[in-house]
Amino acid sequence: MDIVLYPDPRLRAKNAPVTNFDEELEATTREMFKLMYATKGVGLAAPQVGLNIRLMVYNPSGSEKKTDEEVVLCNPKIVWKSKVKEDGQEGCLSFLSICGQVTRPIAIKVQAQGLNGEPVEVELEEWEARIFQHELDHLDGILFIDRMSLASKSLVKGDLEDMVQEYKDQLASS
Ligand code: CO
Repeated sequence: MDIVLYPDPRLRAKNAPVTNFDEELEATTREMFKLMYATKGVGLAAPQVGLNIRLMVYNPSGSEKKTDEEVVLCNPKIVWKSKVKEDGQEGCLSFLSICGQVTRPIAIKVQAQGLNGEPVEVELEEWEARIFQHELDHLDGILFIDRMSLASKSLVKGDLEDMVQEYKDQLASS
């Protein structure tokens, strides 16, 4: 399992609902957590590892030791969001070290399914709400650069162009 980097088309592809809540799904989430910790991330969506399904994992602490803070959500959706929004700095494992400002609702209510298909309903705030919304975007083929402030976007323009060139070079040599 490897991280899919921008501008790989799998990051923009449609993601199918998770329907098999089996051992394979559990093994996939374990592997995703492992990769997320190894790359110093706090969240990872399935399309970022080349699996176009509606699955995300995250751990707001980013610490492998804090397994009690690990969250696995299948087929998640937002059923309520606060009118109050907040600016915050975001990065993304599919964009290496690129980061920028993104405005998002500060609180949300989420419905999803857990690892065994059980219904889950949670209210998330601030940092955890931000992580969730970033990962949910991945499941809809939306990337954080789509939502980045104009000021941030102009700062990372050159880095994004470099990633596009790198992707093209790799395609050409493979
Ligand atoms: Co991301």
